Amino acid sequence: MNTLQEFTLTRPDDFHLHLRDDAQMQAVLPFSARQFARAIIMPNLKPPVVTTALAAAYRDRILSALPDELKNRFEPLMTLYLTDETAPPEILRAKNSGIVRGVKLYPAGATTNSAAGVTDITRCYAALEAMEKNDMPLLVHGEVTDPSIDIFDREKIFIDTVLTPVIRGFPSLRVAFEHITTQEAVDFVTAAPDTLAATITAHHLRYNRNAIFQGGIRPHYYCLPVLKREHHRQALIRAATGGSKKFFLGTDSAPHSRALKENDCGCAGIFTAHAAIELYAEAFEQAGALDRLEAFASFNGADFYRLPRNSTQITLRKAPWQIPERIHFAGDVLIPLAAGEIVGWKML
Ligand code: NCD
Ligand code: ZN
Repeated sequence: MNTLQEFTLTRPDDFHLHLRDDAQMQAVLPFSARQFARAIIMPNLKPPVVTTALAAAYRDRILSALPDELKNRFEPLMTLYLTDETAPPEILRAKNSGIVRGVKLYPAGATTNSAAGVTDITRCYAALEAMEKNDMPLLVHGEVTDPSIDIFDREKIFIDTVLTPVIRGFPSLRVAFEHITTQEAVDFVTAAPDTLAATITAHHLRYNRNAIFQGGIRPHYYCLPVLKREHHRQALIRAATGGSKKFFLGTDSAPHSRALKENDCGCAGIFTAHAAIELYAEAFEQAGALDRLEAFASFNGADFYRLPRNSTQITLRKAPWQIPERIHFAGDVLIPLAAGEIVGWKML
């Protein structure tokens, strides 16, 4: 049988992306805009994007940072950052704006720039009710923050203590369980009603937690939720390639300067936007499921967010290329995932 050398798919969307701001955004935005038609933009700026007005201003900054050749080709889908104080009228404003597509729950202290996040989900029940009523999806960083809970168990415990009550209490609320990392999350999403879906990153499909400790400590493989055991990675592969509409692409590409990663308290976040669709293609190919990539990358997320599927296409060619060792990052340096390594697919 001939191995596939080139294939075309509907242009994908990235349903979980950190673009940062200002000069840093200028540095990373073209990587995403070149590949993806749309992206759900995370609101964890400093200060966070807590109002529709802030989201509209951030959106304008993104659009004006697009290079000329990518203008009108990339649509940022904005999100609000949920806090204990988010009030129902803000949800209504977000809905009516037409530019805000979701509200993001960061448990306070769970990850990068989450200090202003939610301290207790029950404080947000009025906001969740307004979201349910107005069909505004909830996006969740699904980890508990209790320091006494083992870091590898935080997603599993979040499912029982936060996600389950939210889904029961707000049965019509659409929920995107972001960057899932465990077998438990896969099983939970699979068994849940269709209001619950999940994004999966390329790095969680490619690596297990050994990558963080391969011959020494490797900060560029550190993200949250942290990489898990191999059997969890295999569950994610089965979920992404299994044909279920509930799983879709969200890179969680999260740039931090090299100095902030290679640090005695290094930041969580892995940058993958430089080769996102190619890294996913390689993972799908290794699973013998390249034919499932288009649904995962280009259909399922759009359908969940009730957006039209994209009408343009991209082509991937089997043309191995070397990922750069470093990328310019606003006067700093960014180390991309798989720096210096060869990736087998290239987007033309
Ligand atoms: C993200 C970031 O750097 O903003 N980091 C990460 O490890 N994924 C935040 C997040 O999505 O958790
Ligand atoms: Zn993220």
